Amino acid sequence: MGITGLFMILFLLFHMSMNLVAVFSAEGYDMICEFLGVNWYALIGTMVLALGFLLHILYASVLTLQNIRARGKQRYAMSRNKGVDFASRNMFVLGLIVLGGLGLHLANFWYKMQLSELLHLPGAETHGSVLIRELFSHIGYVIAYLVWFGALWFHLTHGFWSMFQSTGLNNSVWSGRLKCLSNIFATFVCLCFALVVVYYYAISLCA
Ligand code: HEM
Repeated sequence: MGITGLFMILFLLFHMSMNLVAVFSAEGYDMICEFLGVNWYALIGTMVLALGFLLHILYASVLTLQNIRARGKQRYAMSRNKGVDFASRNMFVLGLIVLGGLGLHLANFWYKMQLSELLHLPGAETHGSVLIRELFSHIGYVIAYLVWFGALWFHLTHGFWSMFQSTGLNNSVWSGRLKCLSNIFATFVCLCFALVVVYYYAISLCA
């Protein structure tokens, strides 16, 4: 679980950095999107990424089922444990919200770009900046994406810390520090994603 989580985190860092380019240069962003279009290395990357996501979800489901079984009738009392924070108690549900948002997101971007280009569907778009500008001029999408980033924030605050825990890299000295680092990391990543959405909404209002 920790290793698949690390893989997701590395992807998020890459994807966040790539999307930040859209705030500074639409042309630069389009060049990156073209580079990640229908090329053999980008397609292999997409398949490896999909496998990473699948393994992460599969492990999460197995762990959640094991936890429910292990707790048995104590489940209600345990989930009210004050020491256990909101994110760690609701990781699976938060993961499902993140997954739902991801479905919408892939339909908004990946389907219209890489998949449409690959399958030669009409209206394939290679310019990511065109899609971003269009999508984030709608307040409904802006709100939906910000809610999605909110769920991602909670999921990451616990997930980042938990990654060290499950790979055995945590200990009593580092536990508190890693929790603080998790909050900083999750806040940084989600704010950077949110910046892109809010920036494009703001320029749509000025246009
Ligand atoms: C401001 C927010 C975001 C923007 C503007 C954005 C934009 C894009 C664009 C343009 C693509 C298609 C180009 C490509 O394949 O790289 C894409 C693909 C993708 N995005 Fe995002 N994204 C955002 C946030 C996220 C977040 C938060 C996640 C994950 C939780 C995510 C996961 C993905 C995945 C899995 C793909 C498919 C990658 C692939 O084709 O291999 N994105 N996104």
